[in-house]
Amino acid sequence: MSLTGKEVAQMHKDYVMQSWARSGADTLPVERAEGIYFYDYDGKKYADMASLLVCSNLGHELPEIVEAIKEQADKMCFMAPAYASEPKSMLAKMLVEAAGADTYKRVFFTNGGAESNENAIKMARMVTGRTKIFSCYRSYHGATLGASNASGDWRRYAAEIGGANGFVHFMNPQMYRDGYTKGVDDAEVTKKYLDALDLQLRYEGPGNVAAILMESIVGANGVILPPDGYMEGVRALCDKYGILLICDEVMAGFYRTGKMFAFMNFDMKPDIITFAKGVTCGYVQLGGCIVSKKVAEYFEENVLQCGLTYSGHTLACAAGVAAMKYYKEHDIEGHVAEMHEIVAPFMDEMVKKHKCIGEARCIGLFGALEVVKNKETREPMQEYGVPGPVMPWIFAELKKRGFATFGRENFIEICPPLIITKEELEEYLPILDEVLTMVDEKFCD
Ligand SMILES: Cc1ncc(COP(=O)(O)O)c(C=O)c1O
Repeated sequence: MSLTGKEVAQMHKDYVMQSWARSGADTLPVERAEGIYFYDYDGKKYADMASLLVCSNLGHELPEIVEAIKEQADKMCFMAPAYASEPKSMLAKMLVEAAGADTYKRVFFTNGGAESNENAIKMARMVTGRTKIFSCYRSYHGATLGASNASGDWRRYAAEIGGANGFVHFMNPQMYRDGYTKGVDDAEVTKKYLDALDLQLRYEGPGNVAAILMESIVGANGVILPPDGYMEGVRALCDKYGILLICDEVMAGFYRTGKMFAFMNFDMKPDIITFAKGVTCGYVQLGGCIVSKKVAEYFEENVLQCGLTYSGHTLACAAGVAAMKYYKEHDIEGHVAEMHEIVAPFMDEMVKKHKCIGEARCIGLFGALEVVKNKETREPMQEYGVPGPVMPWIFAELKKRGFATFGRENFIEICPPLIITKEELEEYLPILDEVLTMVDEKFCD
């Protein structure tokens, strides 16, 4: 294949249906990627400051993962789920041990995040014999029917045409947007939201609720850090009513927050952990559910009515084993802690310096800046669900300067690959500062 960049872009425009967009728009053709960078066909370099879709935790073309894929491809690209293969057996053991073998026992593999949540929902319903799934409005869980219905943001609406049974949404706290201050009002907000959730569960009939599904830390809706005690309180409500807790770690897992899994930042453990993205960093697609002993043992007595042709795909699991080894052997946990000490103070500085930044939220290398029109009133740059020109303008200006990231109505994600260096941060973060100065002048009250 040797198409020009122009041909690649044109054929994309003509033939590809673009996710979450109208088809037929111009799209940047990318030729290659390495480390924290990707390159277009003119050789222009972009720093991948969002790890693509917060999945390329170990950056691009990491030799250790590429070699593992090549080696496995030479031996056996794929073996069906009914057979054991070395990469699948090995990765399942590594994941159970990383989650905590005292609590977790088995893994069901899928092809990505949505399927992981989809299957976790089915498992919870089978184990409990109950139907309802509670999930948060401020959330995203994937685009298949069940995961989409469980999602809270607008990407749910198309899946609701025709409906799916038993999905109930509750409002989860977003302290800044709700008018509170993180670190000051946590106890009040936690109590308020847990009381509301308890009441809602009682109105829905807790005996009908199979699971509460939540992102351990909400990602694609703006890195929303829960108030202290909130996640522990949700766990306590689940215990009170015999409800399973599913933590969606698709985006927040694999050291994104500084810990192996994001729930490890709290004093609680879910019954099912769903994962994808960082398990292979996207080199080959993979996802899955890590289940507790209780759930695993249920399916030792009962047939697991879940299955996928590519469950435990051999090549994907080989990439997963290589990624898991790399995380450990290169102390990614320690590196994230060090880089956090550069990114978090920079983000706090942006709040102090810029009229357009209302709040900075960052845990590990999982960060978002809240963009406001008016800092006093906290008026968002764009209202939720109302598309406008400012945020696309910000992302385009950043991209022009080689800083690639994404966000939504009123936040900018800062989630670089976890392998980013101090020097790379020092080179690229000032670009964000420069663009925010332009936003202050052009768009703020
Ligand atoms: C928290 C969370 N769950 C699930 C998904 C869906 O994953 P996938 O796109 O691999 O289906 C995403 C994707 O961004 C996500 O952020």
